[in-house]
Amino acid sequence: MKFFVDTAEIDAIAELNDLGMVDGVTTNPSLILKSGRDIIEVTAEICALVDGPVSAEVVAMEAEAMIAEGRKLAEIADNITIKLPLTWDGLKACKVLSDEGRMVNVTLCFSANQALLAAKAGATFISPFIGRLDDIHLDGMDLIADIRTIYDNYGYETNILAASIRSVNHVQDCALVGADVMTAPPEVIKKLATHPLTDKGLEQFMADWAKTGQNIL
Ligand code: G3P
Repeated sequence: MKFFVDTAEIDAIAELNDLGMVDGVTTNPSLILKSGRDIIEVTAEICALVDGPVSAEVVAMEAEAMIAEGRKLAEIADNITIKLPLTWDGLKACKVLSDEGRMVNVTLCFSANQALLAAKAGATFISPFIGRLDDIHLDGMDLIADIRTIYDNYGYETNILAASIRSVNHVQDCALVGADVMTAPPEVIKKLATHPLTDKGLEQFMADWAKTGQNIL
């Protein structure tokens, strides 16, 4: 499973990228707001830092304007993925931009039928939002599994990009049900390395080592 990092914070992306943990980046208008940066400038910096796809989201509501914004965002760098909302206009823009050979990420997906439409419109990525389904007491992971089944049934090549990941369990479950990619905030990715038994074991080893009176260097 590929790891995308869901942020527009350069320092956080760089730290994970240096460790080889970043296969791509996703942003959205809320994350641009949080960064306090200009969308074009910060997206260009991210694209220069990361080799993989970098999603930048349009904000227009109508297809023609979405297409124009998507083309402008795509001028930033070759690894730009144009992010479009899963609306009828978004699907129209997806078809046009995909036919031009551009990478498209269709976002705000909350049903398997929506994912089916995105695949038929040529999306490179479909972004089902797990956490936001969990928030309303539905099972976001069931949606990932359903999309996996449907795409495999018919050989759709659209990549399932599990989004709105809030916990380490979400990451593990996505890998188990076969998401192609997951995008998570940096803090969730870093938390994957932690386990209370690791901390406990290390504490014991350090205590015993101190009693040996030895040094390695
Ligand atoms: O990738 C989409 C993500 O940013 C949404 O996450 O936690 O706001 O639902 P969240």
